[in-house]
Amino acid sequence: MGLNIGIIGFGGMAHWHATHASNIEGVKYVCAYDVDPKQMESAKEMGIRPCASLEELLNDQSINFVLVATPNHLHKEMVIKALRAGKNVMTEKPATLSVADWDEMVAESEKAGKILTVHQNRRWDKDYLAMRQAVEAGTLGKVYSIESRVFGTVGGMYGWRAFKQYGGGMVLDWGVHLFDQLLFMYPDKKIVDVKAELMHLLEVNKEVDDYFKVMLKLEDGPVLTVEVGSYAFRALPRWYVVGDNGTLEIVDFTMGNDGKEGGGITRPRFGMEGKVAPVVVQTPAGPTRMMAPRPPETREELPLPRPEADWTELYKNLVDVIDNGAKLIVEPKGVRRVLRLMELVFESAESGHSIACDL
Ligand SMILES: NC(=O)c1ccc[n+]([C@@H]2O[C@H](COP(=O)([O-])OP(=O)(O)OC[C@H]3O[C@@H](n4cnc5c(N)ncnc54)[C@H](O)[C@@H]3O)[C@@H](O)[C@H]2O)c1
Repeated sequence: MGLNIGIIGFGGMAHWHATHASNIEGVKYVCAYDVDPKQMESAKEMGIRPCASLEELLNDQSINFVLVATPNHLHKEMVIKALRAGKNVMTEKPATLSVADWDEMVAESEKAGKILTVHQNRRWDKDYLAMRQAVEAGTLGKVYSIESRVFGTVGGMYGWRAFKQYGGGMVLDWGVHLFDQLLFMYPDKKIVDVKAELMHLLEVNKEVDDYFKVMLKLEDGPVLTVEVGSYAFRALPRWYVVGDNGTLEIVDFTMGNDGKEGGGITRPRFGMEGKVAPVVVQTPAGPTRMMAPRPPETREELPLPRPEADWTELYKNLVDVIDNGAKLIVEPKGVRRVLRLMELVFESAESGHSIACDL
């Protein structure tokens, strides 16, 4: 049977799905609905049947699956309508704008006996999987800090993303991916503290954040830092991870495939862990011992892991869930945790304080 999909909202991301996922075995894009006639023309050109109304799409018996790819504020309404029409549903991220909304959506999916999932495609990013592999293999020793960053330079938020009422802002746009990656890595470690700073650097109406920095404390470590900015002209590494026996740096998403240095792992040579006898280094403003470079013969450089990264796994999992009752990878419980975290992020930023929690 597989997925016979109707898409609600045929904008930028829906075009991506229809272009890239339609070659996956068991996945077929059948029809689409968008309020914008130009998008419906585009669907037709791509061989996807345009529907004259949302009802036409929902009543279409040839589809068993709906992808919701509208602006964020409409996810809840569209998901519930699709579930009530008897369809399985995947919504684009963020799943919705609050935990209360998500609980209603999950209750509808349970009532309908249909699956509800979210397109958290960045769980299959190569840089994320490489970082995770190094951490989980113990290559860095006991990890005490993980920093995850994404920076752009164009500045601000565009279109509906610039308005709060449509679910705009960077926390909901990129934050949701980066939080999801880290919480998916630590499903059983409680978050015990959240501290967030949100800014409106170029957002003149000050409605949504175009920069944020969040620090999360996990029970028994590590400390997680997530920072996203749309207006930073020199980026810090995509990943910077420090353990008690090594440091990892991944420069950006390409991991060196663009010919530049992709990052690496540096750690003490075996048998030379811990402190070394420091050498005094003279700097223009004075001598330093503690910040002198570690002698090269006491350290080793390792290449980054190069894991297989295949985002189509998300779709293949959905086909397997529908056809064989397999376990859903992006399941509602993990989605709820990320939504609750984002609520705490907004709460912390508004209050100016860190929030103790048990998440
Ligand atoms: N997972 C990812 O990597 C990723 C990347 C980009 C966007 N997204 C998500 O995809 C969703 C869409 O983002 P986008 O960049 O494609 O936005 P977009 O503005 O390009 O597309 C949204 C489309 O929804 C349509 N629409 C609006 N109201 C509608 C309604 N009532 N009924 C039907 N259609 C309606 C618009 O006409 C538009 O064509 C968002 O939730 C966004 O967060 C996810």
